Amino acid sequence: MSLQEQLIKERIPQHVAIIMDGNGRWAKQQNKNRVAGHKKGADTVRMIIETAARLEIKHLTLYAFSTENWNRPKLEVEALMALLISSIDKELNTLDKNNIKVNVIGDMDSLPSNVQKKLRTAIERTQRNSGLQVNFALSYSGRWDITSAIQNIVKDSQKQAIDPTSINEDFIQKYLSTHDIPDPELLIRTSGEYRISNFLLWQLAYTEMHFSHKYWPEFTKEDFFDALLKYQQRERRFGKTSEQL
Ligand code: IPE
Ligand code: IPE
Ligand code: MG
Repeated sequence: MSLQEQLIKERIPQHVAIIMDGNGRWAKQQNKNRVAGHKKGADTVRMIIETAARLEIKHLTLYAFSTENWNRPKLEVEALMALLISSIDKELNTLDKNNIKVNVIGDMDSLPSNVQKKLRTAIERTQRNSGLQVNFALSYSGRWDITSAIQNIVKDSQKQAIDPTSINEDFIQKYLSTHDIPDPELLIRTSGEYRISNFLLWQLAYTEMHFSHKYWPEFTKEDFFDALLKYQQRERRFGKTSEQL
């Protein structure tokens, strides 16, 4: 049986988050420049979106550019921004045709204005689509997410008093960039690094982790199925005992 056939349809996660890492090292291994790695990585993004849509996953959150990535060489940052624009130009029609909804989480205002404009077009054009929702994490970090939630809570409290006892987890969740999105059941990180790198800190509280040693540009559909299959073999206890489940 193929990996795909082994997947239990009823237990496909609703939300998969991915830290797409290793573009630069892949390029180096191929004697190419880092930007060539990002371009190849964009092909993997297309394939993963297509596969996730076929599997009827509801949410796919892709860590594409972190707050910390602004500290990379200027030329690399510019190339990444240009790649974002050209990818949207190339893929928007197909995304829309496939009923895919584009969403962005992160500090959109910090992106160059031409990138913001493209992203807004993609978001507006696909907002009524009811299939897979792809959340691109751009200029995103988990600490940024929590910090801006707190800022907005305080802002709102200046308009109308907030009773401290009304602040519970659901309340906080409503102020996060992922307010309408369930927590990911599965996080995948490629490239053999075992860290979160300031991704969805709040949202990953009970997420299953899958680490692949493959670099993102060489991550395949089979690797994705393998991650999903291993996820389905886990026992998620949420603090309970095995016998209680
Ligand atoms: C991930 O690949 C893409 C981004 C962070 C934008 P990297 O560019 O981090 O590749 P490595 O980790 O240097 O190999
Ligand atoms: C994490 O990758 C961010 C993205 C994949 C966008 P990095 O390559 O920036 O992470 P570190 O620096 O190795 O932790
Ligand atoms: Mg990296």
